[in-house]
Amino acid sequence: MAKAQTPRSGIDDPRPSPLNRKSGIPLYHQIQLRLLDQIRSGELKPGMPMPSIERIADRMGVSQMTVRQAVRALSELGVVYSRQGKGTFISGIKLERDFRQVLSFTEESKARGAKPSSRMLSFDIRTPDQNVMAALRLTESEKIFSLRRVRYGDSVPMGIERSCLPVRLCPRLLETFDPTASLYDELAERYGIQLMVTDEVIEVGKANSEEARLLEIAPKSPVFLFTRTSYLENGVPAEHVTSVYPGNRYKVVNRLMRSNRKLG
Ligand code: GLP
Repeated sequence: MAKAQTPRSGIDDPRPSPLNRKSGIPLYHQIQLRLLDQIRSGELKPGMPMPSIERIADRMGVSQMTVRQAVRALSELGVVYSRQGKGTFISGIKLERDFRQVLSFTEESKARGAKPSSRMLSFDIRTPDQNVMAALRLTESEKIFSLRRVRYGDSVPMGIERSCLPVRLCPRLLETFDPTASLYDELAERYGIQLMVTDEVIEVGKANSEEARLLEIAPKSPVFLFTRTSYLENGVPAEHVTSVYPGNRYKVVNRLMRSNRKLG
C-alpha cells in the first residue's frame, strides 16, 4: 500500500511530518507504513523494542487506540511481536515485499521495479450477472461499473482484469477515472475508498484465443485465473475482479501465519 503521497518521515524524527488526514488512507495505516519504513531501513532492528504506544500517539497526534490498531496490523504481518509484561519488539522475520498484501497492480509493478501501464478494453455501466450481484451483495436494481483492461509491466502484458464496482460507491467513476491510471488510487483519492481486505480464489486454466492474443502467448498456454472480492474496513464489498495472468510471468508468494485463536 506504499503510495507516493504518503509522508515517510520516521516517528522518532525531531519533527515528524504530519499524517495526511484528507487522503482517505486510515490514520492507523499511515502509522503502520511509517513503522514499516523504519523497519525496512534498519532504523528499527530485530530485537529492539518498538517505541511505546503512548509515545507514538503523542508524537503523531492520534489516539492510543489508533496506534494500537497499527501495531496489531504489524503483528499480523509477523514483523513485530509482543511479550506479556515486557512490551512489543521488532521481529527478525524477513519483511519480503513479495508477500501478498492488498496491493494494486500499479503498486505491485512498482515494487518489482517495472513501469505499469494499461489498455482499456471496455468501461461501462451495466446490470451485473448473478455471480457479481451475490459477491457485491447488490439489490435487484443496482448497477455496476465494469472495467476491462490489459495490464502491462514494462510494456509486457501481465494480465487481463475485469473489475466490477457498485455504482452506489463511486457514482461519477465513468466521468472522473482515466482507465489507464490506477483504479485504487482513484478510489482512495476521490471517493475515500480503501480496500482493506480481499478474498481471492486462484485457479489454473488455459488461455482462450482472445486471451492469448491480448497476452501475447500461445493459445491454450497455462494461465492463473484470479477471482478477487475486496471489502471496505466495515465489511462492505466494494470490488469484484476476475483476472487472467500468464502462468510464465506471474508467481504467487504467500506468507501463512499460524493463528493462536480458536477457529470455527
Ligand atoms: C490488482 C488486483 C485487481 C485490482 C487492481 C487495481 O491487479 N488483482 O483486483 O483491480 O490491482 O490496480 P490499479 O490500482 O493499478 O488499477
